[in-house]
Amino acid sequence: WSGAAYAALIGYGLGSVPFGLLISLAAGLGDVRKIGSGNIGATNVLRTGKKWAAALTLLLDGGKGLVAVLLAGMFLGASAALVAGLCAVLGHIFPVWLKFKGGKGVATVIGVLLGLYWPVGLLFIATWIGMAYLLRISSLSALTAAALAPAYMMAFGDLTKAIFAFILTIILFLTHHANIYRLWHGQEPRIGQKKKDEN
Ligand code: G3P
Repeated sequence: WSGAAYAALIGYGLGSVPFGLLISLAAGLGDVRKIGSGNIGATNVLRTGKKWAAALTLLLDGGKGLVAVLLAGMFLGASAALVAGLCAVLGHIFPVWLKFKGGKGVATVIGVLLGLYWPVGLLFIATWIGMAYLLRISSLSALTAAALAPAYMMAFGDLTKAIFAFILTIILFLTHHANIYRLWHGQEPRIGQKKKDEN
């Protein structure tokens, strides 16, 4: 079980680094938790108006999930990679450094999926981009991709990974509960938009 414990540590340690907050503070954009949705993810960093900061947040939040899975997989084995991936996502959502109030986990899930089975990671990204192109709503794009991820994993990966993807799907739906409420009431802002009435 020590392999799993190391994997959990690697995953949580990497996942809990709040890149969106660090980047926005370092770039002099202020505390991203005080603008837009209050989330520390790339979608909300984009609401500062700085595309490069959002892109870097996406890259690093995704990168930490990818690195966690690859490191654990390389040194501790395939099961440890799953543990590290799950803990990276949980670390992003519940970072000890921010009193356990972190992000929603989309970018980190993408990194984890890319690390576990890259074609499914790419399919997740393609679904997100397609939906975002059509609807311009980040949360709905992420939720659609998340809902399809277990099916992608079932079709192209294996059952264990499909079950793992399903757990990630449930986590993403839980972290997006406020977005789901806003979507249901037609109040979810479009990508880059600060609030509905600022359109
Ligand atoms: O990745 C989070 C995204 O799906 C929604 O972000 O800031 O609009 O709640 P936000």
